[in-house]
Amino acid sequence: MNRFAPRIVTLGMDRCGSPKGPRMAERPYTVLSCGMSIDGYIDSPAIDRLPLSNDADFDRVDGVRADCDAIMVGAATVRNDNPRLLVRSPQRRRQRQALGLPVSPVKVTVTNTGRLDPCAPFFTVGGVDKLVYCATAVVAATRERLSDVATVIDAGAAVSMRWIAEDLHRRGITTLLVEGGGSVHTQFLTADLADELQLVVAPLFVGDPQAHRFVNEGTFPWQPGRRAHLAEVRQIGDVVLLRYALSARSAYAEGALREAR
Ligand SMILES: NC(=O)c1ccc[n+]([C@@H]2O[C@H](COP(=O)([O-])OP(=O)(O)OC[C@H]3O[C@@H](n4cnc5c(N)ncnc54)[C@H](OP(=O)(O)O)[C@@H]3O)[C@@H](O)[C@H]2O)c1
Repeated sequence: MNRFAPRIVTLGMDRCGSPKGPRMAERPYTVLSCGMSIDGYIDSPAIDRLPLSNDADFDRVDGVRADCDAIMVGAATVRNDNPRLLVRSPQRRRQRQALGLPVSPVKVTVTNTGRLDPCAPFFTVGGVDKLVYCATAVVAATRERLSDVATVIDAGAAVSMRWIAEDLHRRGITTLLVEGGGSVHTQFLTADLADELQLVVAPLFVGDPQAHRFVNEGTFPWQPGRRAHLAEVRQIGDVVLLRYALSARSAYAEGALREAR
């Protein structure tokens, strides 16, 4: 569907976009997207909508969304931010339709508690499929609450992002955009499930320890012995986009991705 996958396939990948060689579990090509302050925070308890992006960057993210099969956020982001998670540009929506795709990607979230409001815009706007991955213990209650507005998936006793990624792939999702928050980003990164990170730094400080950071504590694969590959630095008005290639797949795809923008 998108401009990611077919090009990756031609660049030394197998049919499903996995690097050729030792058999890897199949999962979507996964892009993590985040905006943060200079001091690494992604929100502020004191400010309702912290401006970590600008119009031009919103439009860039819209383009990335339009290239993906699914967009995922954690349940706390659904509760706190009320995101719509739609492709906004009419032109991009038309282009997707012309390819036989839904106007916007599938929406995905994950929850341990099932505490999600069926009236949230995540569920009510867009007319696209919504998937809710949840822990076995709350599946029944969550289905009762959300079955009219989403597909609720039992993801096991302890939900892992790897299980979700593999299940998404089984459902035909070949490109996944993860838009936070910090808990979900941390799990994708520490499990080495991210192919690309698009990190936007906004020219402001938060300086509040109550705020969430881009990631929480954890053991991340990118260490002094394995540095992430900085694929691009781009100024977009008053913010800067840092694009990191995090996997063999993204390294292979780097030229194609840049060309696709
Ligand atoms: N600046 C940005 O680009 C950006 C983007 C997105 C979000 N944000 C900010 O990030 C903040 C939220 O970040 P966050 O780290 O608190 O939350 P989050 O990552 O959005 O969501 C965390 C929640 O997701 C569910 N979850 C995560 N991992 C799970 C697992 N393995 N199994 C089952 N459920 C799991 C749990 O939901 P339950 O609590 O329902 O069990 C958990 O509380 C918000 O304030 C938002 O404004 C910023």
